Amino acid sequence: MRVPLIAGNWKMNTTLSEATELVSRILRELDEIGNVDKVLCPPFISLAAVRELIKGSSIKLGAQNLYFEETGAYTGEISSLMLADLCEFVIIGHSERRQYFNETGGIVNKKVVAALKSGLKPILCVGEKLEENEAGRTHEVVTEQLKSSLASINNINGLTIAYEPVWAIGTGRAATGEQANQTISLIRRNVSELYGEETAQDLRILYGGSVTADNATEFMQQPEIDGALVGGASLKADQFLSIVRQTSEIKQAR
Ligand code: PGA
Repeated sequence: MRVPLIAGNWKMNTTLSEATELVSRILRELDEIGNVDKVLCPPFISLAAVRELIKGSSIKLGAQNLYFEETGAYTGEISSLMLADLCEFVIIGHSERRQYFNETGGIVNKKVVAALKSGLKPILCVGEKLEENEAGRTHEVVTEQLKSSLASINNINGLTIAYEPVWAIGTGRAATGEQANQTISLIRRNVSELYGEETAQDLRILYGGSVTADNATEFMQQPEIDGALVGGASLKADQFLSIVRQTSEIKQAR
């Protein structure tokens, strides 16, 4: 039985004081919601402060990116070694990183390797663009991304995958629960071919892209969807709490 996971990806939002204020507002209620792993992914500069605030709670911490080298002359970068000291999860290969920072499958692969090596739990994002979706290439694109991201990795213990169709991110145009469920089940089949059925059944696969309190139920009712990577709605205390609460209730009732 997979424990659902809801991760809030705050992206490049919140100053240090806004981040701590947001955490303070959701802390108690979020802590009390059971049967879901709750992960907050604030910007790097707020990780240490958020870590202090959530200490002793059931809330977990994640980063939004890392650089694949461990130490050295890489001005401005943050490594897995630094993060492993601070948080448990790290988002890797988000489509915004692929699109704006030219992250290729090869780079994403190196980042996943670095994360796993240092004991971080990667949340690996895959997803097709609008034109690829419209051309009926979703399965092909997602399979290719998965294979290149996981190339030469023999053990994916600790990994979570997030299926995020690029056309649904930040657009208010979410996929349907059924569409997402179908692609996620394809991802699980791919993982089964690569790593065996047991690993595939244990792997958590999230949906991401315009998840809100209004559509969370539709996604969480799908059997293959194990949670969500939430962007915009994770910055709104009430929305995020509601998404986590709905997930807990629906997945518990299964
Ligand atoms: P969104 O972002 O919920 O704002 O669409 C999701 C994501 O990018 O992870």
